[in-house]
Amino acid sequence: MSQSVSYTVDGDIGIVRVNNPPVNALSHHVRQGLYDCFMAADADATVATILICDGRTFIAGADITEFGKPPKPPHFSLPLNAMEDMSKPVIAAIHGTALGGGLETALCCHYRVAVPSAKVGLPEVHLGLLPGAGGTQRLPRLIGAQAAVDAIAGGGHIDAPTAHAAGVLDALVDEGDLLEGAKAFARKIVSAGGALNKVRDINEKVTGVDPAIFETARANAIKTRRGFKAPLSCIACVEAACTLPFDEGMARERELFQELHDDLQSAAQQHIFFAERAASKVNDMPKDVTVLDIKRVGVIGAGTMGGGIAMNFANVGIPVTLLEMKQEFLDKGLGVVRANYERTAKKGRLSAAQVEERMGLITPTLDYADLADVDMIIEAVYENMDVKKEVFGKLDEVAKPSCILATNTSTLDVDEIARVTKRPEMVIGTHFFSPANVMKLLEIVRGEQTSFETLATTLAVTKAIKKVGVVVGVCDGFVGNRMIHQYLAQSQYLLEEGCLPHEVDAPIYDLGFAMGPLTMSDLAGLDVGWRIRQGKGLPESLAEGDRYCEIGDRICEKGRFGQKTGGGYYKYDPSDRSRQRDPEIEQLIIDYSREKGIERREIEGNEVLERLMYALINEGAWILEEGIAQRASDIDVIYVYGYGVPAYLGGPMFYADHIGLDKVYQRVCEFAERDPASWKPAPLLKKLAESGGTFN
Ligand code: 3HC
Repeated sequence: MSQSVSYTVDGDIGIVRVNNPPVNALSHHVRQGLYDCFMAADADATVATILICDGRTFIAGADITEFGKPPKPPHFSLPLNAMEDMSKPVIAAIHGTALGGGLETALCCHYRVAVPSAKVGLPEVHLGLLPGAGGTQRLPRLIGAQAAVDAIAGGGHIDAPTAHAAGVLDALVDEGDLLEGAKAFARKIVSAGGALNKVRDINEKVTGVDPAIFETARANAIKTRRGFKAPLSCIACVEAACTLPFDEGMARERELFQELHDDLQSAAQQHIFFAERAASKVNDMPKDVTVLDIKRVGVIGAGTMGGGIAMNFANVGIPVTLLEMKQEFLDKGLGVVRANYERTAKKGRLSAAQVEERMGLITPTLDYADLADVDMIIEAVYENMDVKKEVFGKLDEVAKPSCILATNTSTLDVDEIARVTKRPEMVIGTHFFSPANVMKLLEIVRGEQTSFETLATTLAVTKAIKKVGVVVGVCDGFVGNRMIHQYLAQSQYLLEEGCLPHEVDAPIYDLGFAMGPLTMSDLAGLDVGWRIRQGKGLPESLAEGDRYCEIGDRICEKGRFGQKTGGGYYKYDPSDRSRQRDPEIEQLIIDYSREKGIERREIEGNEVLERLMYALINEGAWILEEGIAQRASDIDVIYVYGYGVPAYLGGPMFYADHIGLDKVYQRVCEFAERDPASWKPAPLLKKLAESGGTFN
C-alpha cells in the first residue's frame, strides 16, 4: 500500500505491517500508509486486524527528524482515529519497544498483546516534549492518574510483564511467534463477541483523583528536573484528563505540545538525542571491523574509581577480577562497593539476592597472574605517569595477546603509556567520571596507534555497560577537563577582579548548570589541583606574561580542601552539608586583590556569564580545530553527561550557536584585548563568525 506499510489478509484476519527501518518511526509516509491500510482493512471481509512491525521493534515513536521542519501531512490523528473507529477489533502486536507515538498508536488499537521482552513507554519528556498523539489523555484512563503522571513525566521504559499487570497490555504471548500469538488472541476476542474496547471511552474524565498528586508531582519535577519545562506540561496534561472531557483534553494536549515543540529547550534536547548517537561513530572507521568478545574484565586498583568501574561490569553480569597491592586496600575497596549496593537495596532498587549476585561477580586478587585470562583490563591506579607505566609493563607481560589494555586517566598521555607495551595498538584511554558507577559519560581516548578493533570493541563495551561514550584524541585534559581548565581560570580571575564566590557561581547556576564553578571545585576537592600546581612549581615557574591567581592556593594553605573538609570557597554545615558564604574567605579574596594592587570593580552578572561560557566555547573551538573532538556535538554530549549542563541548553557549543557565533567572537576578542594572557581567540570561531556559520 505504501513504501513502508503493507496490508495482507491471512484467512479471516487482516494484517497491517509496518516496515520503516531502523525503528519503524511514524514518518509521514507511515502515517499515510497506516491510514490507507486501515481503510482497506475496514472495507474487507476479515473479522479482526492485527498491527505488527518488521525488524527489531514495534513503532518507536514519531520521526524525530521531522520535528522543527514544516509539518508534513497527514497529522497523527488521521490514522489513529481511523484505527480506533474501525468496525472490527484491532490488535497491536508488540515486540522491541513501543515508545512515544508508537505506544500512542497501540493505545488507539482495541487490544494490545506483547512478547515478554518488549517494553513500552512515553519518553517524549526526554526530548523536551509531551506525548502529542493522545497519550496524555488515553494512558490515565487506562492506568489511573498517578501511574500516568509517573510514566509520562518520568518518561521511563516499562517492561511488558509490568505493563501487563498495570493494564496497558491485555496479554503476553510467546516470545517465539508474536504473529501467531496475536492471531490466536484475535480469534478469542472475536468468538467472545468482538468487543471494540476503546480506551477513550473508558470514562468521560478520569475521576476520583486527589488533586494533591499533581502538586506533589510538580514540586518533585521542580526539584529534580530544575528548569525543564516539559515535565510540568506533561503533568498539566494528565491533570486535564481528570478535569476535561476527552476531546477538550486532547485540545489541551495539542496546545501544550505545540508550545514545547516551538521552544528552544526541545530543539536542544533533540540535538542531544542525535548527538549522543553520533558520538559513538568514528569518522574513519571501516565498516567491517571485528569487535572482540569481552567476557571477563580486569580492573587495577580498588580505590574510588576502580571500585566504581568494577561495579559497572558487575551490574550487567560481566565478571571482574579486581586487583590491589595490599589485602587491606582490597578489603576497603570491596567494603565500599558492598556499601554502595546495600544503599541501593535499601532504596528498594536491588534485592538482597541481587546484591550478593553482583558482589559474587567481583573476584578480588593480589596476584597479577590472575589476569591471564581476562579480555580487557582497565587500570585505575594513582594519576602518575611513572606508576602507570610500571603497571602497564606488568600487564603487558601477564595479559593474553588479545587482551585490550585501557588506562583510566583524566590528563595523562595515552601514547606515552602505550609505548611501554609491546601492543600499543591494543592500548586505549577510558576516562570515567566520578562516581564511576553513576556518571554516564566515558571519554574514550584514541591513541596514535590504537587499532580500529580496539576502538570498536571499547565502544561496544561502553554500550554494554550503559555509558555514553565519546571518542576523543590525546591532549592534556582531553576534551572535558581541557575546557574546564579555562573556565576555572576565569572563575579565579573574576574573584581577584571584584567578585565574591557566590557572585561567580550564581549566573551559571541560574543558566541551569547543576552548580557554579567554585561550588564545583569545592565538591571535587581543591587539594588535587593544588598538588598538581605545586608539582609544576607554580607560581614561581610562570613564564613571562602568564596570568596566575593564587587565591585557590591560599585557601588550600589553610587546610580547606572543599566540602570534604567543611570549607573551601564556602563553608559547609556539617549536619547537612548546606553551603554558606564565608566572611573569612571573602576577606581573604579582598585582601589578596589589595596585596596584588588590583583595583576591585563591580562585575555584572552578564560579564561573569559570558567570560565563563565563552572560555568553554573558545577552548571547544580550539579542540575542534585540532581534531581532538570529531564534531561539536561530541563536546555538547561531554558537557551534558559529565559536567552537569542541563540537556535543555544543548551543551556549550549548541548554546554558542544559539547566541550567534559573531556575537561570541566579538566578545572573545574584547576579552582578549583586555587580557591577552588568558584569551586566545580560536581561528575556527573567527572563521565561522565571519561566514555566518555554526558549530553544529
Ligand atoms: N525518530 C527518528 N530516528 C530515530 C528515532 C525516532 N523516533 N529513534 C531512533 N532513531 C534512530 C537513531 O537516531 C539511530 O540512528 P543512526 O543509526 O543513524 O544513529 C537509529 O534510529 C537507531 O537508534 P538507537 O541507536 O537509539 O538504537 P537502539 O536499539 O539503541 O535504541 C530505541 C532503540 C530504544 C528505539 C531508541 O532509539 C530510542 O529511544 N528512540 C527514541 C524513542 C522516542 O523518544 N520516542 C518518542 C519520539 S517523540 C513522539 O513520539 C512524539 C509523539 O508523542 C507525537
